[in-house]
Amino acid sequence: MNYHRMPIEIEAPEGFGYDKIDCNLSESSVTDQKLSDLGIDLHNLTLFYGDHLGLPSLREIIAKDAGLSHENILTTSGAAAALFITATSLLNKGDHAVIMKTNYATNIETPRMIGANISFLNLTFENNYRLDLDGLDSLITKDTKLVSLTYPHNPTGVMIDQNTLKQIIAIIEKKGTYLLLDETYREMTFGDKLPVAASLSNRVISVSSMSKAYGLPGIRMGWLSCQNKKLMETFLAAKEQIFITNSVVDEEIAFHYLSKKEKHFAPIQQSIKKNFNILKNFMDNQNTLEWIEPKGGCVCFPRIRPSIKIDLQKFHYDLLHNYGTYVGRGTWFEVDDRYFRIGYNWDKTEKLEKGLQNILKAIEGAIL
Ligand SMILES: Cc1ncc(COP(=O)(O)O)c(C=O)c1O
Repeated sequence: MNYHRMPIEIEAPEGFGYDKIDCNLSESSVTDQKLSDLGIDLHNLTLFYGDHLGLPSLREIIAKDAGLSHENILTTSGAAAALFITATSLLNKGDHAVIMKTNYATNIETPRMIGANISFLNLTFENNYRLDLDGLDSLITKDTKLVSLTYPHNPTGVMIDQNTLKQIIAIIEKKGTYLLLDETYREMTFGDKLPVAASLSNRVISVSSMSKAYGLPGIRMGWLSCQNKKLMETFLAAKEQIFITNSVVDEEIAFHYLSKKEKHFAPIQQSIKKNFNILKNFMDNQNTLEWIEPKGGCVCFPRIRPSIKIDLQKFHYDLLHNYGTYVGRGTWFEVDDRYFRIGYNWDKTEKLEKGLQNILKAIEGAIL
């Protein structure tokens, strides 16, 4: 293993200091929730080692939503651990993997750290960040051990439809490889949600968590779903070697939250809708930025129009240090800083509005 800290983590707002940021548009989740707002009483909880697979009642709820059995669910410490377990279980040094790019940084970094031989399936602005199915098919060889995709996508918020998901799975099955689908943003799809992909094939591992849609990243609760018993045994072994079980406190909070998901999530969904409309209205009424309109999640990935000649370093410096506005610069996703991620549902609505105006001001001041 050859660990390196990633720019997205080195520059994370919680490390930089929330108190130094006025308008925080760098986050990838909805507003963080307070335990006291959830109405969960943990006083009688025994602090034992939990079930190694995860709290049975929690796995039951997750499985029911996915059309799976609780045996197909393994809880993990955030989606991050599920992604790590999957990548390290399926890939060895020199193995071939096909990974979508851009992507949540860990989905690229862990296979890279393992020493996998990676072929990137690039999403480009020019192609509306559309997944190229023929391109995917041609990148997968008989030696490909893992294909890694994320939908709804981070950082762009783009989606695929159910028919495309089925076509992807048909390719995976034809080639005899495995698909890791990072579904962390699934709940925040604007239209119909995709089915949990692991329910469609035993060659799929679906990953999700409590962090993004529900604003509970601090409980570090995620899970992976998979119908393949042999793989699940390997994933459990990996989990046991890293952290044995999840925190029973985290699992209990997740269970109670999901038991009343509709109640908790309805206001979050309304907030996403409201803030998205503000963002869309802003994007439609300026000529400096361009975007591919998101279809899910709470992030988008606009770029400064290529015709604008600009000092990108100055832009990002001024935006943060002079305008107190933080965005996720392109470097976090291994692309040009002309691109940046805006998280539009973490900070207050008035901060979103102010932050968007600040972006235009900072660009204006950095034009060459
Ligand atoms: C697509 C995606 N997957 C996984 C994660 C990891 O989330 P967590 O470990 O908090 O569940 C993130 C966090 O930003 C993400 O955006």
